[in-house]
Amino acid sequence: MQPSQVFTPRSHEVNTAMYIPRPDLEASLKRALKSSRHVIIHGESGTGKSWLYKRVFFEQDVHIEIANMANAVRLGSITKECLNNHDRHEAALKTHYDEAKEGSVGGGLIGGKLSHTGHFALGQKEPFEMYLAAIRKRAGKNTACLVLDNLEAILEHRDLITELANMIILVDDERYAQYDIKLVLVGVPSDIRSYFTQLEHLAPVANRLREIPEVDRLSEDEAHALITTGFFDLLNYTYVGPNMKRDFLRSLCWYTNRVPQHLQELCLEIAEVAESRGGTIDEDVRSAGVYEWVRSSMMSQYATIEKNMNSRSTKVGRKNQAIYAIAHCDRDSFLHSHIEAIIRRLFPSSTRGITLNVSQILTELSTSKSPLIRRLPDGPEYRMYDPRIRVTGRAMLKLDPATESIIKVDIRHYH
Ligand SMILES: Nc1ncnc2c1ncn2[C@@H]1O[C@H](COP(=O)(O)OP(=O)(O)OP(=O)(O)O)[C@@H](O)[C@H]1O
Ligand SMILES: [Mg+2]
Repeated sequence: MQPSQVFTPRSHEVNTAMYIPRPDLEASLKRALKSSRHVIIHGESGTGKSWLYKRVFFEQDVHIEIANMANAVRLGSITKECLNNHDRHEAALKTHYDEAKEGSVGGGLIGGKLSHTGHFALGQKEPFEMYLAAIRKRAGKNTACLVLDNLEAILEHRDLITELANMIILVDDERYAQYDIKLVLVGVPSDIRSYFTQLEHLAPVANRLREIPEVDRLSEDEAHALITTGFFDLLNYTYVGPNMKRDFLRSLCWYTNRVPQHLQELCLEIAEVAESRGGTIDEDVRSAGVYEWVRSSMMSQYATIEKNMNSRSTKVGRKNQAIYAIAHCDRDSFLHSHIEAIIRRLFPSSTRGITLNVSQILTELSTSKSPLIRRLPDGPEYRMYDPRIRVTGRAMLKLDPATESIIKVDIRHYH
């Protein structure tokens, strides 16, 4: 097997051999599927929302059709994106039908079957009802879901939010309810329901939605399972080094913050290096993989961090220490006191007895031209501006213990 067949960081298709089960989330999703309400799946980018529902729905024989909200923005309407989808499904059916007709064996049989499941006539129905009816027809007797993925794309578009709210109300309307289609809303923001409560007359929409727990980064055991399955079970690589696998597992979890997409990206880079060196992993292969990963996937975050760093000449480099501490912070959202505690722990000599103005530094980092962090709208907490900044910081910033200063690894010239 090749590394790229094992580690598939950007694959839309679930790679069954590498899928790491997430029992709690899978169970919540199955329960939500059985309830009468529509479902919300939320979590940061790359945490595995799409793989989760694809896996669970496949297992449960659920028929799904996926509409991409980024495309809805482009087309100016969710319904248009749905119709686009419908045309694609029909075209696929038609190709299947034509191929079957041309084939010499069994053509009649497949053709006969398609004559009642095939092309859906537009008829007199309004487009959304037509689409729901078509999904029902394609799903047969199976549970059917219309997934609206990448929901974050429409959140700035009030007209599309209103369209979505109306769709949610409509699918439960008597005429439309006969098709029995469940909506599944998938996106990054944590409180999707609140977007509807802000809109007059649309507050009841929130009651029709059921949220499963946040799709978060992997647990340690899950991350270890991903690494071990890929490198050692499927690729059959060997690890050489003093603490063997334990250090390897720990450092990959640390660099990627156990976000499945980052983990798969980093594993792929390390595996490519290992492959070129006969399938052996050691310290050297690992660090070459880490730098390749930043270089191939995170150059813009690297540049963002660089722009926010103090120049070399600054004496204490307090801002650099703060950036390093932020990258080391394990919390999704944090206060300046959390960062100050990390700074004091990591840099004891240069902070002893000194007042640190960390809140001022965090303000600077959140209001700079290329912000590293953002302040949450209602409260004193901050979050990373982009979760990739954290993992990039972990890979590119090193601490010089003698001077307690931060050294930036020069990724561009690393060999
Ligand atoms: N359970 C899993 N086991 C192994 N790898 C996974 C798992 N879930 C996700 N991944 C990896 O992470 C990648 C990203 O997952 P996915 O596309 O589901 O994330 P997402 O949350 O939908 O992200 P986005 O918000 O950007 O759409 C997948 O292509 C896959 O490589
Ligand atoms: Mg997704």
